[in-house]
Amino acid sequence: MSVQFKLSDFRTGEKRKVKVGEKDVVVFYMGGDRFFAFDAYCPHLGCDILKVGVIIREELVCQCHFSHFSVFDGKVKKGASKKDIKTYKVEVIGDTVHVSDNEE
Ligand code: FES
Repeated sequence: MSVQFKLSDFRTGEKRKVKVGEKDVVVFYMGGDRFFAFDAYCPHLGCDILKVGVIIREELVCQCHFSHFSVFDGKVKKGASKKDIKTYKVEVIGDTVHVSDNEE
């Protein structure tokens, strides 16, 4: 399952909620061809990553209770969450951004 967007539609620093199949996914655009994508809801208590998620260096931080996750594989680095956050694969091909489920 994957969805596609135009790279030129994204602004650096933007985050956007998209659907990958049935799943809500939040995509962060860091500029150039750098994207990160995660489940839209924190695995701790379900806060909305679109509203409370920020990327600081190489970590996604959920500001609800300050859980930190690796931007690369979603593994918990520190904070309240005991569970990792699911990540999604993002590929940029030309002007097209493909977001897909890592597990397929
Ligand atoms: S809901 Fe994200 S850290 Fe608690």
